Amino acid sequence: MIKKMTISKILNSKGKEPLVMITAYDALFAKLFEQSADILLVGDSLNMSFAGKQDTISATLNQMIYHSQAVCKGSPSSFVICDMPFGTYSNKKVAFKNAIKIFQQTDVDAIKIEVNAAHTKIVKYLVKNGIAVCAHIGLLPQSVRSEGGYKVKGKDKQGSLALIDDAKAMQEAGAFCMVIEGVKAEVATKIAKSVNIPVIGIGAGCGVDGQVLVYSDMLGLFESFTPKFVKKYLDGATLVKNAIATYAIEVKSRKFPDEKYIY
Ligand code: KIV
Repeated sequence: MIKKMTISKILNSKGKEPLVMITAYDALFAKLFEQSADILLVGDSLNMSFAGKQDTISATLNQMIYHSQAVCKGSPSSFVICDMPFGTYSNKKVAFKNAIKIFQQTDVDAIKIEVNAAHTKIVKYLVKNGIAVCAHIGLLPQSVRSEGGYKVKGKDKQGSLALIDDAKAMQEAGAFCMVIEGVKAEVATKIAKSVNIPVIGIGAGCGVDGQVLVYSDMLGLFESFTPKFVKKYLDGATLVKNAIATYAIEVKSRKFPDEKYIY
């Protein structure tokens, strides 16, 4: 029996053991990840690897709810965080209404929003009203169109100080953990040291309190683009293509199904 993570266990992990977070979009993969991951993230990255879109911007609340329901069903003992998609947390009332919808229609434990210090009021309001918030700082994929690309953050002094301010503001607002994406490793390390909530990195080096990867990237299934920080733990695309090619050859040649697979 797998013991489910809790917010207090996540907070207590700081300075002890790194947290393992991985994205999951469906019940099948969630079940496979349940044993090894501390936290499953239903990331809006599913809009790219699952729905085939260019970026995460067009992900909808209903899409996130559908995938969160599947992940929670597949892995009931996982601590699950659902990404709130672009445009669904533009002010505190809108954010609360949409977070409530997620909480009413799924069993997720928390939501994640892409923020900077300007979002403090929104995070405070959500937390005050019973919504556990994971704050996503640094490179914010939902800003890809307004920023004209995915830009690594913390490259200069001003940028680094702004990120430290963002992190402190999020802690102050009551976020229970943070994801920090695409930030120079030494800056991310400083940020992790400047707050007492866990800071989970993606493309942020090893001086943080945990790591998160997009599963379709780390299993080598997503071929369109591989960011520098992705380590491929499996050559999934090749394995899947080879398996399907073998199946096709065996169907065409009537090798499959043989005696073993018929009634
Ligand atoms: O959507 C997502 O998968 C994410 C990760 C990149 C952290 O936000």
